[in-house]
Amino acid sequence: MRYAFLLIGGLEVLALAEVKYLFSTPEIVDGRIAVVEVCEPLFYRLALTKEVIELLEVCDYSELEDAFAEIPIPSQPLCVRVKRFRRTKTSTQELERKLGEILWRRGAKISVSSPKSVVKVYIADKAYVGLLRHVTDTKQFEERHPNKRPFFKPGVMLPRISRALVNIAVKDGLFLDPMCGTGGLLIEAGLMGLDYVGVDAFSNVVEGCARNLRYYGLHPSVLRGDAKILPFKDSSVSGIATDFPYLQSSKSFGSLEELYCKAIPEFARVLRFGCRAVLVSNIDIEEIVAESFEVLEVFRYKVHGSLTRRIYVCSNSKGNSK
Ligand SMILES: C[S@@+](CC[C@H](N)C(=O)[O-])C[C@H]1O[C@@H](n2cnc3c(N)ncnc32)[C@H](O)[C@@H]1O
Repeated sequence: MRYAFLLIGGLEVLALAEVKYLFSTPEIVDGRIAVVEVCEPLFYRLALTKEVIELLEVCDYSELEDAFAEIPIPSQPLCVRVKRFRRTKTSTQELERKLGEILWRRGAKISVSSPKSVVKVYIADKAYVGLLRHVTDTKQFEERHPNKRPFFKPGVMLPRISRALVNIAVKDGLFLDPMCGTGGLLIEAGLMGLDYVGVDAFSNVVEGCARNLRYYGLHPSVLRGDAKILPFKDSSVSGIATDFPYLQSSKSFGSLEELYCKAIPEFARVLRFGCRAVLVSNIDIEEIVAESFEVLEVFRYKVHGSLTRRIYVCSNSKGNSK
């Protein structure tokens, strides 16, 4: 089935990657709208998509009224909601009224105050018409802000970003964060129902992470260990996402240079063939990463003046396929 995803503004590139790796490569990308063929609607996992509609029609803006004369009409009371990403002659409200009237004349029950179905129209280069199927609960990310956890360290990634990175890394199977810190990525993986395990080099951090996991009702699946020599068998995990220490806010166990050189091949060793690792760093590490992985994409996202995170999406397609 085809769906149109409305990506959140400001992080469209990462939002698009989340959709692509969780579902499939978009057929159309039109500003903040991505049209994707979806087999398994795992919409509850999305972090960087605002809402999803089941697509009924894609047309030119000038053809909207003709499209409304043809689209299937839901039997329940409905309303029409329009979102414009470019100027149109007719106002949003006027357009909603006009399109709603077309459906009403065709026999639809209209309820603006308590609709059971919402017919959405996004107007960008093209017009996208569909039934609203999912709205992302954005409040949950605020409620899980890192400073609300029992164990807090400054500078950690926000839950919304952490969740997107887990989704880019893995659809199902065992998820690993080999430098898990306070557990931001593990919490998101656990709340999405994935199997997960975390490793950190410092025992106070491991204890704090376990406390955070329990706080969200999750199993404290976290071990003390070194990312350079992980306590896992070859090809035993299905996805990795992790962020390297930045030194201002988190210590490295051993030198940072050694950590980059030894941990990245170790990630490739424990990751199953064809699976993904999402590696986050505040410095350019593409050359080191490329020695162990195929680098699929690199995103840069500015956190503040002195911190730009680089996000490397890597595929473990260089190693042994057995
Ligand atoms: C940037 S922090 C991770 C933040 C984490 N994503 C969170 O949500 O809190 C990096 C972590 O790597 C850990 N670390 C440093 N060197 C390590 C090593 N050799 N093996 C495992 N963990 C290590 C640090 O203790 C720190 O918690």
